[in-house]
Amino acid sequence: MLVVKNLKKNFGSKKVLKGVDFKAEKGKITVLCGPNGAGKTTLIRIILKLMKYDEGEVSLSTDFNKIGFIFHKDILFSDITLKENLLFFTKVKRKNINKEIFDKYLNLFNLKNDLNTKLSKYSSGMKRKAELLRVILEEPEFMILDEPTANLDPLVKIEIRELLKKLNSEKNITIFMTSHNLDEVEKIGDKILILNNGKIAWTGDKKILEEEKLELEEKFLEIVRGGKNE
Ligand SMILES: Nc1ncnc2c1ncn2[C@@H]1O[C@H](COP(=O)(O)OP(=O)(O)OP(=O)(O)O)[C@@H](O)[C@H]1O
Ligand SMILES: [Mg+2]
Repeated sequence: MLVVKNLKKNFGSKKVLKGVDFKAEKGKITVLCGPNGAGKTTLIRIILKLMKYDEGEVSLSTDFNKIGFIFHKDILFSDITLKENLLFFTKVKRKNINKEIFDKYLNLFNLKNDLNTKLSKYSSGMKRKAELLRVILEEPEFMILDEPTANLDPLVKIEIRELLKKLNSEKNITIFMTSHNLDEVEKIGDKILILNNGKIAWTGDKKILEEEKLELEEKFLEIVRGGKNE
């Protein structure tokens, strides 16, 4: 579904991606983690064709219209209501709002009473949920999510984690996402990638960690601390 081969990206003399290789397979949840500044957002921008790269290959077999994305920053307009935003963004994707999906997730996210409220009056958790609602209504086959659970309280984080798992298992939506929350990464990722020093330094999953009797946090620290001296 998504194959990245030997991807290199420099910003001037700064080498950010130095040969990134990985696959995000169809039907799976692949989670990318790595320290601040590792190049996760850069990689996502490149995958979404928003940024050029210097070398390598990126092949995404999903039709661009079937990709739903969330950026670290919210993209919904803050000076209009949730309803107006959703009408606009579904129209951009040339879709009509699916009433069944709309009602279900509006209830689940507890946003029913705020449908006609401007987003500038939302809390950051409500805004993240609104972004997710936008993506879900686009009925994507593939979700590319940059830190979908950033700045959320533990309860909302868990709700969103469970929701992403459900979308993956029930609707067979493939997910490629980034996260700094290693507990979440371990719980949600069918495949876990650690980006460090410009390369995928480790690929694994919960089972491999169990076999190695390691927590993801220990693995992460081992790689990131070790990587600095390379
Ligand atoms: N447009 C740009 N021009 C110059 N440098 C950039 C640009 N975008 C990103 N960088 C640099 O590339 C590196 C990777 O940034 P990026 O935002 O991809 O990291 P990240 O892994 O997403 O970090 P975070 O966890 O903080 O979100 C950083 O050193 C950053 O300063
Ligand atoms: Mg980032």
